[in-house]
Amino acid sequence: MEGRCIMRVVKSVAEMAEVSRELRASGKTVGFVPTMGYLHAGHISLVKAARKDCGSVVLSIFVNPAQFGQGEDLGTYPRNLAGDVEKCRMADVDVVFAPEAAEMYPAGYATYVTVEGISDRLCGASRPGHFRGVATVVTRLFNIVRPHRAYFGQKDFQQTVVIKRLVRDLMLDVEVVTVPTVREPDGLAMSSRNSYLSPAERMASVQIYRSLASARSLRESGETRAGVLTQKVRENLSHEPMFKAEYVELVDADTLLPVQSADGRCVIVLAVRLGRTRLIDNMPL
Ligand code: PAF
Repeated sequence: MEGRCIMRVVKSVAEMAEVSRELRASGKTVGFVPTMGYLHAGHISLVKAARKDCGSVVLSIFVNPAQFGQGEDLGTYPRNLAGDVEKCRMADVDVVFAPEAAEMYPAGYATYVTVEGISDRLCGASRPGHFRGVATVVTRLFNIVRPHRAYFGQKDFQQTVVIKRLVRDLMLDVEVVTVPTVREPDGLAMSSRNSYLSPAERMASVQIYRSLASARSLRESGETRAGVLTQKVRENLSHEPMFKAEYVELVDADTLLPVQSADGRCVIVLAVRLGRTRLIDNMPL
């Protein structure tokens, strides 16, 4: 059994790199949970998974400007560092890494990472440059924290596929672990952005999960045609006039390319707008 230590909050890149060197030198496996903060039960489930597998757990909190486009919610993204630190303490995190933007992108920073193809579809189509920002910050965080394993939520399905491809293509020495989506009791996938929803939007939002669950039931009853399954989701979403569906697709779980039939490993992915809020969810079939 590897020994635990008192939780540290680290702000500088140099100190974080040093702490990681010490953890590795002491023989500990480093589990890493990258986040943008405003932690909820979904993040805590990533910490729990890391805690179970690894001798030490590092969680980063960094609202990454590079993954927000013009007119997106960078300025209003919810933040609560003191509350997050307390949640990390309760969840038995060893190190919270909470750098400022100038630490992560110092003056003269010029290198970006693009995972071609899969970054351009689905969320990438309506958020150009988003996955370039994610791939860049994740690569940089991996190089600073040097984790053995990194934990990501399945709710951001496309992100997990992009990061797995990044790790494979660049031969990064880290195992990417995907952890199942944590949902509110009524089925809404947990997300920091749920805090944007008005009470009426929050009530309407349950229809997202219901629509995905209806497609899953249809699949379980033997239906495999992509058009029928996605139409079922769209129909269910249309019961709620507040929704504007951005995409609903049945895709291959590894390539994210559309499939015609739900025979292999595939996932229904969707993005909807509910007022000013953009929500994503998915359901493996
Ligand atoms: O999923 C998120 O919160 C972010 O995209 C991540 C992986 C922390 C990169 O900024």
